[in-house]
Amino acid sequence: MAIAPQTTIRPLADDRAIERAVAKSPGENPRGRLAIWAAQFVDPAPGARGSSRTVLPEARALFTSTRPHGPRLPARPTPEHPNRPRLVSLPRSPFSEERPMTHDAKVAAEAAAVLLGNYNAPPISLVRGEGCYVFDSEGKRYLDLMGGIATVGLGHCHPKVLAALEEQAHKLWHVSNLFGSDPKIRLAEQLVEHSFADRVFFCNSGAEANEAALKLARRYHADRDDPRPEFLAFERSFHGRTLFTVSATGNPAYWKGFEPMVDGFSFAPFGDLEAVRQAVTPRTAAILVEPVQGEGGVWPSPRGFLEGLREIADAAGALLIFDEVQSGMGRTGKLFAYEHSNVTPDLMTLAKALGNGIPIGALCVTEACAGVLVPGSHASTFGGNPLATACGSAVLTELLEGGVLEKARATGDFLGQRLDSVARAAGSRVVESRGLGLLRALECNGPVAPVIDRCREEGVLVISAGANTLRLAPPLIISEAQIDEGVDVLEHALRDVLAG
Ligand SMILES: Cc1ncc(COP(=O)(O)O)c(C=O)c1O
Repeated sequence: MAIAPQTTIRPLADDRAIERAVAKSPGENPRGRLAIWAAQFVDPAPGARGSSRTVLPEARALFTSTRPHGPRLPARPTPEHPNRPRLVSLPRSPFSEERPMTHDAKVAAEAAAVLLGNYNAPPISLVRGEGCYVFDSEGKRYLDLMGGIATVGLGHCHPKVLAALEEQAHKLWHVSNLFGSDPKIRLAEQLVEHSFADRVFFCNSGAEANEAALKLARRYHADRDDPRPEFLAFERSFHGRTLFTVSATGNPAYWKGFEPMVDGFSFAPFGDLEAVRQAVTPRTAAILVEPVQGEGGVWPSPRGFLEGLREIADAAGALLIFDEVQSGMGRTGKLFAYEHSNVTPDLMTLAKALGNGIPIGALCVTEACAGVLVPGSHASTFGGNPLATACGSAVLTELLEGGVLEKARATGDFLGQRLDSVARAAGSRVVESRGLGLLRALECNGPVAPVIDRCREEGVLVISAGANTLRLAPPLIISEAQIDEGVDVLEHALRDVLAG
């Protein structure tokens, strides 16, 4: 039985309310009653105020005979689908004789009942991670080729990061920035020693690091009696979701409904130095760029591009900001992606893999920019948190002293070669294979969501970067054998799902 997308149902708070609604349900159709029961898990309809809700696609899918993507899977594991999740019964269902809900659908419905709808419904729910693998509640294993979106650089529950977290958890969690604490100083020392930077500000995310960078850039010029309200950023870029950083993001899809955006941003085509020259003015505070555009589709800087930006920024008296939130921390085979070029920025932002999954962000700056953020000018309650910075320190130590970077360079090349050959064999299905190190993409000839779904069903997690582009950002510790395992699945999925 299919439920119309706009079916509205009274919210059902408890079993008695459910029973009441069931008593009033049309006819005695038990599936209809189950639909009403399931509707307690669904999200509010846009604009709805309390009393009406819209049945989610996930709830709806329970009563339809086809899955949203791809062919229907068998109800239990078979030799062709050994990882097929088992169907489980929902607790509290007054209709347990009805077709049972899958565990995944239950999680999606539960999430939709209590979380805001800003993320798509989760297709699966994960409970454990170890190295390059994650596991769902039924023990199904997935090879993680997306690393929590380029965040779990050392793999899940890395023993050395775990040890650092545990050790720090027994000592001190939080004291505020009114006091000194060892871990943040140690991590700042490491970042300073291994980058262009002289000083570091800690925060909690990539958006916050970019927010701090943009604020610093404006204030840098204001301090010199040369107010410069403008920034040059790039088309297809992504810098975060705060109002300032989403305004810096060169993709209007992210702006919708949040206007007016922060004033002062213009966008040049990525890689086009002539356009940059035209766009930079004496009012430009900074040029903001990802050395490898991540969310926008995995686009490494063309040769000479970063050098050209440095020249243009210097000539205009503007600062140069590298957003290495995604490309940093070994992702491209060097500690920072700018090391593939011959230049350094004035400011660099980090987050994601800096904490290997523990929330942390950092703004790294040169001495010339360091005096701008004086006491009272900018702050973050959790910035420099002892737990997060202790993890960051363990991550850097492992990257630099544990041989992870060198190994990631080799496996990055291997992954690139494997994807290049997949692209060649896939003919018109794949438009391009591109990337750097262990940040890779296959641009396809159509939407990749069904390919991602198929890979997941076969036990491999990949992600998109735009509708038609598959992105791979596995843990840096991945082995060649694991790359083979994952790319084989991906190759089959591409062939099965995309039209040639
Ligand atoms: C390049 C870049 N900058 C900034 C961000 C925002 O980071 P966060 O989600 O931690 O705020 C991201 C996130 O994907 C990113 O890829």
